Amino acid sequence: MPIQLKESDLPSLPSKTALVTGATSGIGLQTAILLASHGATVHIASRNPAKGEETVTGLRAQYPSHTYHHHPLDLSSAASAAASAAHFARENARLDILVANAGVAFVPVDELSADGLDMAFAVNHVGHFVFVRGLLPLLRRTAEGSGDVRVVVTSSAAYSFVDKVDLSDVACRVPGDGGSVRHLPAAGRRYGRSKRANILFAMELDRRLRAPDGAGAGVRVNVCHPGTIGGTALGDNGAFGVPAWGSRLLHGLISTVSLTPREGAMTQTLLAAADRVREEDVHGCFFAPRTGWNMRYTHSEEVDLGEWARNEEDAKVLWEWTEEWVDKVLGKGNWGGE
Ligand SMILES: NC(=O)c1ccc[n+]([C@@H]2O[C@H](COP(=O)([O-])OP(=O)(O)OC[C@H]3O[C@@H](n4cnc5c(N)ncnc54)[C@H](OP(=O)(O)O)[C@@H]3O)[C@@H](O)[C@H]2O)c1
Repeated sequence: MPIQLKESDLPSLPSKTALVTGATSGIGLQTAILLASHGATVHIASRNPAKGEETVTGLRAQYPSHTYHHHPLDLSSAASAAASAAHFARENARLDILVANAGVAFVPVDELSADGLDMAFAVNHVGHFVFVRGLLPLLRRTAEGSGDVRVVVTSSAAYSFVDKVDLSDVACRVPGDGGSVRHLPAAGRRYGRSKRANILFAMELDRRLRAPDGAGAGVRVNVCHPGTIGGTALGDNGAFGVPAWGSRLLHGLISTVSLTPREGAMTQTLLAAADRVREEDVHGCFFAPRTGWNMRYTHSEEVDLGEWARNEEDAKVLWEWTEEWVDKVLGKGNWGGE
């Protein structure tokens, strides 16, 4: 019987410190609100300092009893992700909950990150790899005291757009107008690759923490598909011949048959906070939302993705490739966290 979690499983979280990446918008914002409404101190990580501060100011005004802080984080650059993790670890005594939620989708395929990677791979996978790794010492220290630290990685059902994480062209820019409609399938595959990488990364991180010398006791890592959600800004970049009004119309249509951002936030919030995750030692699992007859969210459920997600060799190849890449960009041993 797969494990099921529902909103009533969310406990009071007054002593917890949480950080949510990409919390200025969409399901990240709703995850932050849900965690703060249960008493957690929530750090809103955002790439745009003005937008981050504005989000925190707005949330404090709307919810005076909640506690929010802003934390700068640009995942598109390994150096910035490492510096952001080091900054957070210097300023904070604990981190109980880390939700690696930020993401970009359907980025024009001629756009590379500052480090020279496909932007979706850079932000969704490599940036989070560096950021989470940089925070591991703090997460471990917190778990030594509490025995209950959570890392939740936000993936997507779009992992199925590809059948493997092909690393051969992650640093390749497609010449020409990469935002033209003929490149839409390629942009979709790039997004799918990054979301498949999220799953392999989460599984490998969980294994490494649980290894006898992994010193990760009490840190539980899980990964999720949050659902198909209307009303977020994902993929809203004006590319592929879709004007802003067309994108708004599409989102409007999707929102009639999809989850709301709050419903979309529920799976990762439950993995981040529900007591049952600790009580039943839920780790290394993939969860997705379930809906009722009226298409509304009912609960979140563990899903078996099959052998590929448990493939240790593929996850190790991705892990080592990413480490080597980051070593090249930052200089070996210069990650700032560990
Ligand atoms: N929406 C869906 O239907 C759906 C389905 C499956 C999975 N997901 C996943 O859910 C997650 C959240 O998506 P969403 O729908 O809530 O999208 P969203 O509204 O576009 O939110 C994405 C968040 O990521 C942040 N972000 C983007 N690039 C960043 C960077 N370089 N550094 C740091 N933060 C960055 C954005 O910041 P700004 O505010 O500055 O842009 C924003 O806060 C993503 O990982 C996505 O893949 C979404």
